[in-house]
Amino acid sequence: MNYSLLTSTNPSEVKSDCLVIPIFANKKLSHAATQLDAATDGMISKFLSISDFSGNNDQSHLLYADSNTQCSRILLIGCGEENKFDQKIACSVTKQASKEIAKTSAKHATLFLLDTLAERIICEQSIRQSLLTFADSVYRFDKYKSEKKKSPKIEHLCMAFTTEPPCDVATMLKQGVAIAKGMHLSRDLANQPGNICTPSYIAETAQSLGRQYDSVTIEVLEEHDMEALGMGSFLSVSKGSAQPGKMVILQYSGADASSRPIGLVGKGVTFDTGGISLKPGANMDEMKFDMCGAASVMGAFNACVEMQLPINVVAVLATAENMPSSQATKPGDIVTSMSGKTIEVLNTDAEGRLVLCDALTYIGRYDPAVVIDTATLTGACIVALGHHICAVLSNDDGLAKDLIEAGNDINDKTWQLPMDDDYSKQLKSAFADLGNIGSGGAGTITAACFLGKFTEAYQWAHIDIAGTAWKGKDATGRPVPLLSQYLINKAYS
Ligand code: BES
Ligand code: MN
Ligand code: ZN
Repeated sequence: MNYSLLTSTNPSEVKSDCLVIPIFANKKLSHAATQLDAATDGMISKFLSISDFSGNNDQSHLLYADSNTQCSRILLIGCGEENKFDQKIACSVTKQASKEIAKTSAKHATLFLLDTLAERIICEQSIRQSLLTFADSVYRFDKYKSEKKKSPKIEHLCMAFTTEPPCDVATMLKQGVAIAKGMHLSRDLANQPGNICTPSYIAETAQSLGRQYDSVTIEVLEEHDMEALGMGSFLSVSKGSAQPGKMVILQYSGADASSRPIGLVGKGVTFDTGGISLKPGANMDEMKFDMCGAASVMGAFNACVEMQLPINVVAVLATAENMPSSQATKPGDIVTSMSGKTIEVLNTDAEGRLVLCDALTYIGRYDPAVVIDTATLTGACIVALGHHICAVLSNDDGLAKDLIEAGNDINDKTWQLPMDDDYSKQLKSAFADLGNIGSGGAGTITAACFLGKFTEAYQWAHIDIAGTAWKGKDATGRPVPLLSQYLINKAYS
């Protein structure tokens, strides 16, 4: 997809396969509709006068344009009461428009939707949000379908205004495009099946990012490197698989070297069978998504690089496959993590925290200002928050607040769960410093408490995306928007 901007434009002069023109409740013409109506000898008002189209929120109608315009289609879209039209409605209308456009063979669409949003902040966020909504809804992963007939034909989206908008449209477009690109990368990676998207595939994808941008360097730690570093916890997961585990480090320098980097860590379990503590068969295919933490970190990293944010970022992807085999870790095995802490692996299906804890120790070497990890860590997170909101847990309430705010800014929401000491006590082991599972409920919190034992040296937050990283059988690209917005806020505050 390509994106562009047009300001102070009369829709009748726009060359496009499809113009999207808002109509408000009670058949009220928007500014764009009025201009188009004037140029077409009342085509729109004539249509409205004889039709049932009232301009309510759920309505749309496709007209084929006449010779007084430069476009081939006009999609009228109902936007409801004009004075109630806000960012949220703009997004739902954008989504509807994208679905209608996808039914046509239009390759180029021009959206005159946001004229009415006169306030600066609303206008700015709506441009980005509409762009993300559109990109999201025309995304398809059909790489392995011989017939791609369900794929939208759209290639170019133009965000158009009849007036000069009161905000920095160009910056918002640039940010929107960068975040959309990051989400796309993240979803493509996550939707790949486990036999293609292995730890090596993730490492190669990172390497190709490194080749694309001068500001990016990539380093890959192999299993023998991790052995030398004492990452016994990570290796206890990867050792059951024929696929070698990798620790992938991506660095972006957008500020001078003295500026402490923001640390991002992602769980990249490319397939989670549960290991010897084998998962049940139903929907086990979805455990190919257990690398969505790593995918979203890579996506947000890519967005940051594209936006050329004036910050430094270090990202670590802990990627391995969790398999049962004669080499695999067994319940009761005790391993030593890079931090020196010993861990009794009571359940090999609690593998995410085992790969993450060594990554969290390792990232300390970069003296990060803050570290945020994201992971499809616990089924319990779905019990707590369902599929709409990500859980955030932190050793620093200020950081948690920043993340919650960033999520609200970009409609990628989080909810904070507590991390009191009482929960940490649930991680006791009879034989080692700690067990890898907690007894007594609150699985999302005890998982975070486990990670918290390895993050005492810095400000840290953990985002559990078990309920939000995919929907049905499709990756969502979350929390790329949240992480990207957090980085934007950090860069410009
Ligand atoms: N990857 C899973 C968590 C998960 C499950 C995410 C379902 C999304 C949907 C994780 O590795 C896991 O298996 N966690 C266990 C932990 C338990 C053994 C303490 C879980 O949640 O059941
Ligand atoms: Mn597991
Ligand atoms: Zn897992």
